[in-house]
Amino acid sequence: MGKAMTDNAVTDNAMLKINSAVKVFAKGTPNEHVALDSLNLTLNKGDFVTIVGSNGAGKSTLFNAICGTFLLDSGSIILDGDDITYMKEHKRSHVIGRVFQDPMKGTAPGMTIEENIALAYSRAGKPGLGFALNKKDKEFFRNALADFGMGLEDRMKTKVGLLSGGQRQVVTLLMCTLVPPKVLLLDEHTAALDPATAEKVMEITQNVVKKYNLTTMMITHNLKSAMETGNRTIMMDSGNIILDIDEQSRKAMSLDDLLKMYSAKTRQDFDNDRMLLTR
Ligand SMILES: Nc1ncnc2c1ncn2[C@@H]1O[C@H](COP(=O)(O)OP(=O)(O)O)[C@@H](O)[C@H]1O
Ligand SMILES: [Mg+2]
Repeated sequence: MGKAMTDNAVTDNAMLKINSAVKVFAKGTPNEHVALDSLNLTLNKGDFVTIVGSNGAGKSTLFNAICGTFLLDSGSIILDGDDITYMKEHKRSHVIGRVFQDPMKGTAPGMTIEENIALAYSRAGKPGLGFALNKKDKEFFRNALADFGMGLEDRMKTKVGLLSGGQRQVVTLLMCTLVPPKVLLLDEHTAALDPATAEKVMEITQNVVKKYNLTTMMITHNLKSAMETGNRTIMMDSGNIILDIDEQSRKAMSLDDLLKMYSAKTRQDFDNDRMLLTR
């Protein structure tokens, strides 16, 4: 009984469980590539995990698997107690938020900020809203945007295509979080921005994650930022997680320690050319 209760408690606190996830691209061809190699991962509710790993390690593939861009070859994905292994991508998108590196990806350029937000809001579970916005909805969107501190609340009627990359990422971030998702996935979402804008978008990201206690995964090639952001850092290599560092251990660890651990695990040096060791 005691054990059963403990097990339940553990399960209840898990927001995302990925069990033995396997994804092989170009199976049976000379280009066969194991992109996810029996990967296991559990995120607790409110975890903010940063993900690092060299190019091709499988980081984006992991996000694609979670979002349902493709189905796993084997393994399972449990989101907040629901088995979503076979759930269609568009259905998952109601409960999973994702921001890509490319600012062009998250928003429709020909639509205004307000229309983009309204569409995302209706998709995320406020059906029937469409473009028929009432004054209350508009105020709600406006205030949410004002909270981000970029002055975008005064540009609700501006077409998103006229915004800068950073502004578009912020609109995307709002669209992903206006109805708080069960998991927020950030795939190098500040990598295409200039340093000052990247910093601002990171600050906004941290605030919104904190506000809703969002369970979040953030891929970044900025090792320093990875070690300082959220409460946990995982390192991927060859389709698997080779390091999983909790908050306590992370505090006691330098960047150099991390790089040494990577080299020890993979017997190679981190591809430093693309990795930023400082901000
Ligand atoms: N749709 C796909 N078809 C074939 N190979 C793919 C596909 N997506 C990713 N890959 C391969 O899987 C590996 C992991 O890619 P990815 O997850 O994008 O790496 P990263 O860690 O840089 O995000 C790479 O070798 C990549 O070429
Ligand atoms: Mg990637």
